[in-house]
Amino acid sequence: MADETKPSKQQSKRDFLYLTAAATGAIGAASLGWAFIDTLNPAADTLALSSTEVNLTPIEEGQAITVMWRGKPVFVRRRTAQEIEKAENVDMSLLRDPATDDTRTQEGHREWLIVVGICTHLGCVPLGQKPSEVRGDYDGWFCPCHGSHYDTSGRIRKGPAPKNLLVPEYTFVSDSLVRIG
Ligand code: FES
Repeated sequence: MADETKPSKQQSKRDFLYLTAAATGAIGAASLGWAFIDTLNPAADTLALSSTEVNLTPIEEGQAITVMWRGKPVFVRRRTAQEIEKAENVDMSLLRDPATDDTRTQEGHREWLIVVGICTHLGCVPLGQKPSEVRGDYDGWFCPCHGSHYDTSGRIRKGPAPKNLLVPEYTFVSDSLVRIG
């Protein structure tokens, strides 16, 4: 008489097939899930390549515009001759985060200052883009959150911010078109 507590050969084979199918199904679902999640995250190389082109033609001397780049505000300011001169003639020993103006702008395009518009203290967006806004003691930008003053090269001059406004990577495609990123 056959032992009924032991699974028959047939039954074991069925269970094995069932388990194998279930495991394959789980792996399939997991890889489908991964593929789905993966498509929601932009690839690192896509992020690295994302750039913004800015037409500079409408910006007159002394004016500035704000553009968005990778979710951040970027200030594009066309500086006056006086603002450039001020930025160039600063004693480096007076700077908290020393950097000459020519390391923050490009040869042949010194009138254009392009910086990420996020205060390096706690991340507020400083004032100074519109003519009606205060530009602080150094004619650049003023962050009213805790009183940081930036100069016409976007360098920190007074207040709690530890660093200059960041200069993003950018390229002049032509004299009137710049690509940020
Ligand atoms: S965030 Fe700008 S001074 Fe505090």
